[in-house]
Amino acid sequence: FNKNGIFVERALALIKPDAVNKADDIEAIILNHGFSILQKRRVTLTAEQCSDFYSEHYGKKFFPSLVAFMTSGPIVAMVLSKENAIQQWRELIGPTNSTVAKETHPDSIRAFFGSNEQKNAVHGSDSVVSAEREIRFFFPNCIVEPIPVGQPAKDY
Ligand code: PPS
Repeated sequence: FNKNGIFVERALALIKPDAVNKADDIEAIILNHGFSILQKRRVTLTAEQCSDFYSEHYGKKFFPSLVAFMTSGPIVAMVLSKENAIQQWRELIGPTNSTVAKETHPDSIRAFFGSNEQKNAVHGSDSVVSAEREIRFFFPNCIVEPIPVGQPAKDY
């Protein structure tokens, strides 16, 4: 909350190829945790598109296997909205490595639906800047700025 009102943040969520067959269950968990799903697309990325999406990891040892895995089948991309959505979604999905998540965050989505550091079921934007980029990547026409709630239009 600030002088302009409550900001409903937007985050990009991906359901990865290993969990697409559990997409209905994952969407139900998302809605049960108070998120709105503003946009949803099922898409199979090309290697070029996937490399672009994960360009910050280019050159890392796991990059080729990350791209191979993420292009191995369809994924589901969603724009989630909620107050503090980016951090809330990161908390709900748990640590990156599902093996670790099963130990430390057994109630998280990655613990429940993922297997390891590659097959970890879902992705979440890690900052406001990356959320805007990632939302635009999958949904070029989507509004990415946080929307002030309960304020007259002239205030923003
Ligand atoms: S880093 O270097 O700390 O930023 O990397 P990390 O946050 O751990 O992981 C970034 C994404 O890469 C995926 N990853 C892997 N994929 C395939 N194979 C291996 N070994 C591997 N290690 C990490 C990891 O699942 C992260 O994907 P996202 O979609 O960002 O969750």
